[in-house]
Amino acid sequence: MNDDSRAVAENFDYPAGRYSAAETGAKPVNPVPDIPEYLQDTYWWAYLHPKSFYFFEREWVVNLILWGNMKRLTDTVLEELSLAPQSQVLQVACVYGDFSNRVARHLDETGSRLHIVDVAPIQIENVRKKVSGRNNVEAHLQDSTSMHFPAESFDQTVVFFLLHEQPEYARRKTVEEAIRVTKPGGKVIFVDYHGPKRKNPMRYVMKPILATLEPYAMDLWREELPAFMPESVKPEQIQSDFYFGGLYQKIVLTV
Ligand SMILES: C[S@@+](CC[C@H](N)C(=O)[O-])C[C@H]1O[C@@H](n2cnc3c(N)ncnc32)[C@H](O)[C@@H]1O
Repeated sequence: MNDDSRAVAENFDYPAGRYSAAETGAKPVNPVPDIPEYLQDTYWWAYLHPKSFYFFEREWVVNLILWGNMKRLTDTVLEELSLAPQSQVLQVACVYGDFSNRVARHLDETGSRLHIVDVAPIQIENVRKKVSGRNNVEAHLQDSTSMHFPAESFDQTVVFFLLHEQPEYARRKTVEEAIRVTKPGGKVIFVDYHGPKRKNPMRYVMKPILATLEPYAMDLWREELPAFMPESVKPEQIQSDFYFGGLYQKIVLTV
């Protein structure tokens, strides 16, 4: 980690991950997470390189990557987020484009707060700039596989296109952690890739792209996402919806 990254890390992670140093005067107690190997090796060009933001941090680019489905998939998340007043909502991992601002705007109506976790200091720095005009968003430098929040901290948790980027051990831990930090009766909303129907031509377009650039993504084509959830999760807790001929899925787990 370089000095800039450390400065960002030290500014963002404080007791309970909720307050800046200026607000608490406290020393950081949470260890700064290491960048996971899969992120460094496979996705450095997309999330860790400073130049990646010039290209990816535009709504039209993200929309192109999702074949024009960004708005629709973001809308499905907003539809799931119930607007109970003063809710605490967690977004696990940064997302390029307007996603976090749209979630924050949606929650603003109720005095609720959005907490965003990411393991990369450069992503935390970027999202902080992106939401700088809002006072209902906080960013936390943490690893999704071992978050520092106490159990049952959040009313709703969103995991948007993270799981397909993680190898199976990290994916399972992320799912476990998302469930742990969500209150009983709350929702964990997963949106990610899914194996499209055989007659969907996108199947033949996306397979070589994902297999080349996103080696862990094919796991979500082969297996349904609930296969990566802990055994304690019951089928009746899960609601599944599919989009764009099955290329994308939204799985809502009621904890
Ligand atoms: C949500 S995913 C992909 C989102 C989507 N493809 C987009 O348009 O941005 C990308 C983010 O996940 C973060 N990430 C990857 N592994 C992580 C982990 N173990 N803990 C927290 N964040 C992680 C990366 O740093 C990156 O900012």
